[in-house]
Amino acid sequence: MCGIVAYIGHREAYPILIKGLSRLEYRGYDSAGVALINGSLNIYKKKGKVADLENETAGKNVSGKLGMGHTRWATHGEPNDANSHPHLSQSGDVAIIHNGIIENYATLKEELGNRGHEFKSDTDTEVLVHLIEDVQQNTGCELEEAVRLALHEVVGAYAIVIISKNDPAKLIGARKGSPLVVGIGDGEYFMASDASPIIEYTKNVTYLNDGEMAFIKNGELTVKTIDNVVQTPYIQTLEMNLEAIEKGGYEHFMLKEIHEQPKSIYDSLRGRFNPQTGSFAMRSLKEYEGKIKNLNRIIIVGCGTSWHAGLVGEYLFEEISRIPVEVEYASEFRYRNPVVGEDDLVIAISQSGETADTLAAIELAKEKGATIFGLCNVVGSSIPRASHAGAYTHAGPEIGVASTKAFTAQVSILTLLAFGFAELRGKATKQDLRNAFAELESMPAKVEKTLQCEEKVKQLAEWIKDANNVLYLGRGYGFPVALEGALKLKEISYIHAEGYPAAEMKHGPIALIDENMPVIVVATKNSIYEKVISNIQEVKARKGKIIAIVTEGDDKVKKMADHVIEVPETSEFLVPLIATIPLQLLSYYVAVSRGCNVDQPRNLAKSVTVE
Ligand code: F6R
Repeated sequence: MCGIVAYIGHREAYPILIKGLSRLEYRGYDSAGVALINGSLNIYKKKGKVADLENETAGKNVSGKLGMGHTRWATHGEPNDANSHPHLSQSGDVAIIHNGIIENYATLKEELGNRGHEFKSDTDTEVLVHLIEDVQQNTGCELEEAVRLALHEVVGAYAIVIISKNDPAKLIGARKGSPLVVGIGDGEYFMASDASPIIEYTKNVTYLNDGEMAFIKNGELTVKTIDNVVQTPYIQTLEMNLEAIEKGGYEHFMLKEIHEQPKSIYDSLRGRFNPQTGSFAMRSLKEYEGKIKNLNRIIIVGCGTSWHAGLVGEYLFEEISRIPVEVEYASEFRYRNPVVGEDDLVIAISQSGETADTLAAIELAKEKGATIFGLCNVVGSSIPRASHAGAYTHAGPEIGVASTKAFTAQVSILTLLAFGFAELRGKATKQDLRNAFAELESMPAKVEKTLQCEEKVKQLAEWIKDANNVLYLGRGYGFPVALEGALKLKEISYIHAEGYPAAEMKHGPIALIDENMPVIVVATKNSIYEKVISNIQEVKARKGKIIAIVTEGDDKVKKMADHVIEVPETSEFLVPLIATIPLQLLSYYVAVSRGCNVDQPRNLAKSVTVE
């Protein structure tokens, strides 16, 4: 949540900050603000989007070669101008931007209030900048030291950047629990929540570790822990390119990302298996061979769409590798004292790699002795760092708030892992692997073909767009697909939708069905196809209107359903990779035709770094 970007160097900071904020807007869009130093410290901030901030600054003095910007997803204090970042210290000389939550802010605020501090906002962040100035005034130390000392008094999560009118050659950042990356250019430095605002200028970056701070002072970068131990920063060169974070001719990032799936699935699998020999090339499988052979259970943790991928994982690991699996919402797992032990493998799934609940679930499982495998998309993010082993999904930057290509990449790797584990545990032969890999290898082409349903889906969207409720049904591998379809629709079009196991419908939700209820059924050919057909009949008997996702050439369902969307035939365990695509497109076109902001749905943010 919240995006932060900062610059110090030889260029004008404002255009870099505004462009950076637009790229980070997926992290939150309740308000935006910038602070610039050019003799004086100028702050502009506004409730609303980055575009509103640009209107606010039109014709004003935005010069300065040191500056920082923030886009907010509100936690403490409603979204309004006063609660927008940057926030100022008591004297107005020091400014801060912050991503995260200062949990003990109320106590700190009271103490500072007793010492005469006055606050202009309801935020936890303002308290921190007051504290920093208070420490500096009381100790007479340098600003970076005051930041370090103040952070010792703070409980919570943060990525912060600080600048001061009195230190125009200094940029200070720190992180604990929220990401912060430092970009190292030629005589210039950047700080940001992710690399997207930076890569246009430099590909050399260092990701701060938890509990580290970085400061640029007179053109030199220093990284140290908040316990004052100087660190040698690990500087890496990013491979990300600019096109990956731009819309490339599509109207929305979500549509671009849906269309990228043939490539992102290919990229997620590339070089990880050989269909001719049936062999794997995944380092983590090799390293943890002994563990995988003997493990007792897999626990999959994640949130939202990643949790849905986890459900697909459960079906895959149980069916293919014959390992018992539990899939847990990370937010529940972390607080319910689960039984976890050394023989358990916890697979943590997260696109962003920063989801606070998933991170906390990992920490808990680690304390209990489990081995953690992180399955994440964002390279260098917190979850891979907190995991013992893992794999990146390599889906490329996902910017639309609704997750699409990350889901199919997660499912692709889970499929691969299920076969890898199966082989290690003697549950799959080389021939099984060769067959499965050949099918997996054909997925990008099949997804490409599935995308041809776009025009048809567009028409159906016109019909769905006026519905108040939509039911999504599926069985077996179709069930997580139904859940994911329903989540996509509700989050971007604000139509209430429920995903349900088709056979469970008769235990309650069938009461909802009447002639106004669109029911979307995943009815591809599989081992329980006939059972799904019976469920379709049950809906028809109650006058429900059916859109069915069917295997191409299917005549049976076509006769019963009001509309069908055909998808290519594939093995049952690969259905989620195919059947999810029309549902993503459907929610996209419904949202567009309802005039919703597809890439930035209300109340949401891409990366949920607060619990
Ligand atoms: C839905 C969506 C969210 C995320 C969830 C977890 O489209 O994007 O439900 O899946 O917030 O995020 P990650 O995967 O980053 O942990």
